[in-house]
Amino acid sequence: MDFPGEPLHDIEIRGMTLDDVPAVTALDRAAGPNPWTEDIFRRELQISISHTLVAVGRQEQGDQIAGFITFWMVADEVQLHKIVVRRQHQGQGIARKLFQVMTDQALACGLSRATLEVRRTNEAAIKLYETFGYRITAVRKGYYGGAGEDALMMSAELRPAALLKH
Ligand SMILES: CC(C)(COP(=O)(O)OP(=O)(O)OC[C@H]1O[C@@H](n2cnc3c(N)ncnc32)[C@H](O)[C@@H]1OP(=O)(O)O)[C@@H](O)C(=O)NCCC(=O)NCCS
Repeated sequence: MDFPGEPLHDIEIRGMTLDDVPAVTALDRAAGPNPWTEDIFRRELQISISHTLVAVGRQEQGDQIAGFITFWMVADEVQLHKIVVRRQHQGQGIARKLFQVMTDQALACGLSRATLEVRRTNEAAIKLYETFGYRITAVRKGYYGGAGEDALMMSAELRPAALLKH
């Protein structure tokens, strides 16, 4: 369900539930290439190392999922798999909130490193990751199908919010 235009208030970040899966899948489908199916999101809920957080905003018409982040916590590392914010709510700091909660949860679990991969042309995402201290560690040429776009591999030492430069 889309409620265009109206700003969101009181953004709450919480874990995705089964009931959220259709809305999260629709959001992912609208975001760009290689969307996941509902089955994939449902399977993620059953994998103990997989975590999906949703950002829920208040609107006149009711609550709405404005974004989500999916990550895995493996050994000492958090691996970002997806982060998406609904187009009409981008630029309001929602991805930054999701990213910070992921980081806090990983730190609380004793993890020390973070890794991700991103399309070379995804400037918004790369900027976001850089503000959290991620740096490019490798380039995978032609990694993504279709246009054969390069993937940038990025990693960071995990740091509490207080140590980050915005
Ligand atoms: C990338 C994305 C998640 C950012 O979400 P967002 O909620 O708009 O981001 P925020 O408002 O929290 O911005 C946080 C920081 O990200 C960077 N950023 C976000 N959008 C940007 C843009 N269009 N251009 C440049 N930098 C941008 C900035 O550094 C920004 O900090 P600032 O506002 O202090 O400059 C969003 O654009 C999106 O959903 N894109 C489509 C899905 C996608 O490509 N996901 C990543 C790969 S899975």
